[in-house]
Amino acid sequence: MKTRICGTGSALPKRVVKNEDLSKIMDTSDEWIRSRTGIASRHLAVEETLAGLAAKAAAQALEEAEIAAEDLDMILAGTISADRLLPCELQRELGAAKAVAFDINAACSGFLFALQTADAYIRSGQYRNILVVGGEILSKLMDWNDRSTCVLFGDGAGAAVVRPDEAYGILSSVQGSDGARGGVLSCGGRRNNNPYVTNSTALSFVTMDGQAVYKFAVRTVPKAITEAVERAGLTVEDIDLFVLHQANIRIIESVSKRLRVSMERFPTNLSECGNISAGSVPVLLDDVNRRGLLNKGDKVVLAGFGAGLTWGASVLIW
Ligand code: UT7
Repeated sequence: MKTRICGTGSALPKRVVKNEDLSKIMDTSDEWIRSRTGIASRHLAVEETLAGLAAKAAAQALEEAEIAAEDLDMILAGTISADRLLPCELQRELGAAKAVAFDINAACSGFLFALQTADAYIRSGQYRNILVVGGEILSKLMDWNDRSTCVLFGDGAGAAVVRPDEAYGILSSVQGSDGARGGVLSCGGRRNNNPYVTNSTALSFVTMDGQAVYKFAVRTVPKAITEAVERAGLTVEDIDLFVLHQANIRIIESVSKRLRVSMERFPTNLSECGNISAGSVPVLLDDVNRRGLLNKGDKVVLAGFGAGLTWGASVLIW
């Protein structure tokens, strides 16, 4: 039994902020951002909620999968920036009363970890119709006085409906985490208001040692993909599309070089979306799906990596 993606969807906030717009409010430039990252603009949520974006993406995925929200057995949402700290918001938005719902915090690997969790539930036979979502409004976790992080990220959500299938779906998965190195990309929790706590820390935002994360990514991602592809009994030459987490075009180019696979097989949306963390893989997957770049039987790699540190890769037959 395999876990097959039967429908995809995505939603981005209306407000587009270009590099030139940022250079008017902080000491940065289009040239710096574009040359270091490949990002030209990003969507930032001004009025939208994450649950609203996720529900929009989910509605498209449900429609393509020809499943009603009421028929969902489970909703798994990969995110670190939910509107509220407690779960089940998307379930409420969708009216998916029968579903079991919870959020998964694996930062930029959130969609991959949610998909792999859904795969385990489906192969165990426990659930059949699962909605997997990855989405973020990371703009609210950014320190807008820190130009080294806030220019990199964007907001948005993507979704996939997965169901059991005999022939098509996930062939293999790899996942990993390394908490010992987690300090290189971090975000503190909420301020503690407990009167018994005397050393409560201040409000905290995302901080990153960009070069350390870069080195981690270019070493770990090719290794994880190679392992997942081998576990599937394939070689990287057999893979039609590599849908990678969109953090930096230079990271994607490095992975393509290390795997000796042409960049043509690595679609990107980094230029228009920036880094959407858990949202980047499902938003890009929906984009390639809607553009008709995926044919039945194609072999696809999905891969994510990021804070934690965490990483994950899955190989599937579309
Ligand atoms: O999804 C989560 C995973 N995250 C990632 O994968 C991020 C991985 N890392 C990266 O993508 C890159 O390391 C960055 C894009 C974050 C940074 O690129 P870099 O080539 O490593 O630049 P750097 O950190 O070495 O900074 C170089 C210079 C510094 O100035 P000095 O000290 O050389 O004078 C920074 O202060 O660039 C400066 N700088 C900026 N200048 C203009 C940093 N941010 C900016 C900015 N605009 N926005």
